Amino acid sequence: MVNPPRKIIIDTDPGQDDAVAILLAMASPDEIDILGITAVAGNVPLPLTHKNARIICELAQRTDIAVYAGCDRPLAHTLVTAEHVHGKTGLDGPKLPDPEMQLTDGHAVDYIIDTLRRQPAGTVTLCPLGPLTNIGTAFEKAPDIVERVQEIVLMGGAYFEVGNVTPAAEFNIYVDPEAADIVFKSGIPIVVLPLDVTHKVLVTKARNDAFRNIGNRVGIAVAKMTEFFERFDVEKYGSLGAPLHDPCVTAYLIKPELFSGRHVNVEIETKSDLTRGMTVADWWGVTDRAPNAMFIGTVDADGFFDLLTQRLARF
Ligand code: BDR
Ligand code: CA
Repeated sequence: MVNPPRKIIIDTDPGQDDAVAILLAMASPDEIDILGITAVAGNVPLPLTHKNARIICELAQRTDIAVYAGCDRPLAHTLVTAEHVHGKTGLDGPKLPDPEMQLTDGHAVDYIIDTLRRQPAGTVTLCPLGPLTNIGTAFEKAPDIVERVQEIVLMGGAYFEVGNVTPAAEFNIYVDPEAADIVFKSGIPIVVLPLDVTHKVLVTKARNDAFRNIGNRVGIAVAKMTEFFERFDVEKYGSLGAPLHDPCVTAYLIKPELFSGRHVNVEIETKSDLTRGMTVADWWGVTDRAPNAMFIGTVDADGFFDLLTQRLARF
C-alpha cells in the first residue's frame, strides 16, 4: 500500500537555501503535502522573509499555499541577520518580481496552534528551516499541541563542524537558543540536519550547470540563487560551492535512506556568551543523558543532487 503524503508546515526565513527546500517540497506532492508556510525573522528581517516566501510561491505557481507572518524577533535576544551570506533581500541572485500574492491573515504562531489542534493528533510534521522562534512560541502559548506533533525535522546545529556564525554555533540555533531549548526539551521526536551533513551537499559547477540546463524558470532561478550564495562559503571554507543546508530537510522527508545518523542527546547552550547557541550533541555517548534527537551525520550527496535535479525538472 502506498503511504499518503506527509502533512507538513514549513517554518522558514528565506534565504536562497530555504527557497530550494520549499521548491523541492512543492515538486514532491506524492511524498509531501504542504499545509502552510510560516515565515520567521532570521536570514533577513520578517518583512523580507514573508515577502520572499510569497516570491517562491509565485515562482512555483503555488499561490494556493497560505503564507503567514510570524515572530519578528527572537524570544530573548536582539535579532541577528545574515545579509553577508544571502544578500540584502535574502534572495539575491535571480531577478524575481515582487509578489502579488498576499499574506494570509493571522499570526503564524496561531496558525501552527490551530492546525495542530484541527488535524488528527500525530499527523503533522513541523519543518523548521530558520530560527525556532515561531515553534518555541507556539509550544509556550499552547502546551497541548506538543503531544500532537508527529515529528520535527529541522535544519540547525552542528557537532563536528562546530559553528558557522560563531566559533561554536550554527546560525539558526544561535539566533534563538531559548526557542531551540524549548524545542529540544519538548519530547517530540526530532530529526536534526546539522552543518555536519549540510556541508557535504555542495553545489559544484557541474551540479549548478545541471540546474540551469533543466531550462525551466525554476531551474534557472535556482542556479542563479546558488551561484550568488556560494561566494560566502567558497571564500570562508574554500569549499566547492554553496552548501544546500535547508533542502536536506525536504530531501530527508522524500528519501530518508539518503541519510544516516545517531539517536543521541542534544542540549542547547543558552547561558554562556562564548558558546551561546551551541548544540551539545552527545555523539560518543559519554553522558547518561537520554537521547532526544536523531542527529544526522552522513548523506549520499550524488543521490541528493539527482533527486533535487529530477524534481526541479517537474516545474
Ligand atoms: C542556516 O542558516 C541560514 O543562513 C540558512 O538558511 C540555513 O537555514 C545555515 O546555518
Ligand atoms: Ca534558513
